[in-house]
Amino acid sequence: MLEIDLDAIADNFKKLAERVAPGARTAAVVKADAYGLGMAKVAPALARAGAKTFFVATLDEALALRELLPRAQIAVLNGLVMGAPADFAKAALVPVLNDLGQVASWQGYAARRGGAPAMLHLDTGMARLGLSPRETAKLAAEPSLLSGFSLALILSHLACAAEPAHPMNEAQLEAFRAALKRLPHAPASLAASSGVFLGGDFHFDMVRIGAALYGVNPTPGRPNPMSQVVRLKAKILQVRDVDRGESVGYGAAHRIDRPARIATIAMGYADGWLRSSAHRGAARIAGKPAPVVGQISMDLVTIDVTGHDPATVRPGNYVDLLDERYGVDDAALAAQTIGYEILTSLGHRFSRVYRGGAR
Ligand SMILES: Cc1ncc(COP(=O)(O)O)c(C=O)c1O
Repeated sequence: MLEIDLDAIADNFKKLAERVAPGARTAAVVKADAYGLGMAKVAPALARAGAKTFFVATLDEALALRELLPRAQIAVLNGLVMGAPADFAKAALVPVLNDLGQVASWQGYAARRGGAPAMLHLDTGMARLGLSPRETAKLAAEPSLLSGFSLALILSHLACAAEPAHPMNEAQLEAFRAALKRLPHAPASLAASSGVFLGGDFHFDMVRIGAALYGVNPTPGRPNPMSQVVRLKAKILQVRDVDRGESVGYGAAHRIDRPARIATIAMGYADGWLRSSAHRGAARIAGKPAPVVGQISMDLVTIDVTGHDPATVRPGNYVDLLDERYGVDDAALAAQTIGYEILTSLGHRFSRVYRGGAR
């Protein structure tokens, strides 16, 4: 059972909005079904908390969000390739133009149908999405390529924002500033969750926050300033005593070296509990850790409950997998990944229970 605290998401939004430089707006990133937590519930909660601009990745996500939020500004990061300009304009969606071809096609549409706003993504060091420096130079030399429609935002994305001392941060900041100087004036945005914590220079006119809203630590290696949003519980299916010399699970990968008690819980990699966390991490039963032992199966995980009070370790009882003490970043460490992947992997099969959201 995945419990999602909508009030914690709203509080995280407000906390970040208070932190950003005066005049900078805070936009919410709700792509990938709000990082796996359910856009249908999360986006309205964020709107109630004050979010007016939302970013998604795909046109389908944007169309679904438009149904939920008729008046919000909704931008599609993956750009115009996701659909025809008319598909965006019909639902008042804002495409993020990622190359000069997309700029030309939006301009052509605007010339025929009137100038709906678009955003422009400049690549300042990720070589992923956005206009290359050469394309940006061409645009600077020929600003008429942008005539006929308004630029709602010029954005870029930081490659190394989670590492404050990384030289890429300053390099991208400088490249972004230089590009802005050469382009027609428009509101600007560089920072996502971790970028906010690099300081006011990185905030420009808008910050685009995803992971931190959902409780991922935007300052890895330092205390998490965000509130935890998810709690995850799974049911115990079976409990057994296992003798020394026996093995547990696939590949006989965990050998029992002393008489032990093993509980099998209803959760596996099909639920998003990643296989790479085999032998690592722990569940908690009545607050007491029960280490994960053996491989992660598709629907099952085995935990060592030796020494636990038998009254708490019974089929049908819940164990805690994610809570205030062991959050998504801890699970990510055990699975050798990042909190983002834990969040977006969970929740496809778990029943989701929402808490809060009334305010
Ligand atoms: C362009 C862009 N902006 C903002 C975000 C949000 O990033 P974060 O979840 O780190 O806040 C992303 C996420 O991948 C992104 O690709």
